[in-house]
Amino acid sequence: MLKSKTIIFGVSSSIAAYKACELVSRLKKLEAEVWVTMTEEATKLVTPLTFRTLSGNPVITDLFSPELPHLPVPHISLAKMAALVIIAPCTANIIGKLAGGIADDALTTMTLASNAKKLVAPAMNSEMWRNPMVSENVKKLKELNYEFIGPEEGKLACGDEDIGRMSEPEEIVNKAINLLVPEQDLKGKHVLVTAGGTREAIDPVRYISNRSSGKMGYAIARAARERGATVTLVSGPTNLDRPLDIRLIKVESAGGMLEAVLDYYNNAHAIIMAAAVSDFAPRKRNKKSKIKKKKEDIRIELKPTEDILKTIARQKGRKKRILVGFALETEDLIENAKKKMKEKDLDLIIANDDSNFEGNAIKFSIVDRNGKVEDYSQQPKDQAAHIILDRVKDLG
Ligand SMILES: Cc1cc2nc3c(=O)[nH]c(=O)nc-3n(C[C@H](O)[C@H](O)[C@H](O)COP(=O)(O)O)c2cc1C
Repeated sequence: MLKSKTIIFGVSSSIAAYKACELVSRLKKLEAEVWVTMTEEATKLVTPLTFRTLSGNPVITDLFSPELPHLPVPHISLAKMAALVIIAPCTANIIGKLAGGIADDALTTMTLASNAKKLVAPAMNSEMWRNPMVSENVKKLKELNYEFIGPEEGKLACGDEDIGRMSEPEEIVNKAINLLVPEQDLKGKHVLVTAGGTREAIDPVRYISNRSSGKMGYAIARAARERGATVTLVSGPTNLDRPLDIRLIKVESAGGMLEAVLDYYNNAHAIIMAAAVSDFAPRKRNKKSKIKKKKEDIRIELKPTEDILKTIARQKGRKKRILVGFALETEDLIENAKKKMKEKDLDLIIANDDSNFEGNAIKFSIVDRNGKVEDYSQQPKDQAAHIILDRVKDLG
């Protein structure tokens, strides 16, 4: 159920740390990729080896340890990859540090460095929980969209019967599932997505292309599938893994992409064109032989490719479908996006600039038919995908 979801799991030094073992084990059974980070004090209650064995990954207790995973800057790479940060149990100390923006250990550094959703399961003595400073810190974190679960009333380690117990692992896992697996609000819908750049052949080994990685289109396809849609992904060449449970049609050129889109057009409720399709292709292609190296200049004449969005806009039944385009502009972003939207009769257009190419995050604006513009700050492409699909869903 949580396959391909990366979770950073923070363990701080409450006596409830032993319950974190069950939590990690349950998340692993749901096929999540779990990376545990422990505070130094927590390692005095449960050994990192326990979590290493349960999670199948090295446990991060020290940002400067040579044993960290082989990733470029391990704690930042993991913070970027994570879909969710869970801190269970979370001490008063960690709540305070996060609310104050303090990052003096691996757990707080990774949490503050991550854009992922956060789920906090506090555990502490009831007087600590009621302490006005702790309440103030919890309020701050809630305002920053940290989700809290518990603490519950019950028998505490100190013998008191009061509020402060960490919520049960089953409840924490259910909350994590709710945060990670969205509502099945696209069930019964067929979403057709295009992704990646196209290659326009010059000869059998050379081509014209662009820097598109395909990450945005793949993220939209995965997000639509998670929300219950049947998904067809028409993809130009990329280095990305084949997404699970999605019909993947691989194409090379703009012409090939157009053909594939038209093949699946009839069944689609929504068509989201995230591909960076070449606007031009060589007029002549040396089909059989490679152009020989020469001393003098050579000229390659380019002709415009067929415009996929315009072609779709003319198809029968167009009005019954939601058509979403992307506009990548290096100047006058919104103005040019609006123009493109009108020309191609789109329902929505996602405007972004060239800073988003190749990376895992995107800063973008959504423009609708009424000219309304919603601006979104830089965020992971997976989250951006869900925002775009929310708008698509609003249109029917
Ligand atoms: C046995 C034991 C149990 C503790 N349980 C809790 C607890 O449930 N909640 C809490 O906030 N602090 C608890 N503490 C105190 C924290 O361990 C202490 O504030 C520590 O400095 C927090 O470090 P950390 O937040 O970096 O893990 C406990 C301490 C001990 C010795």
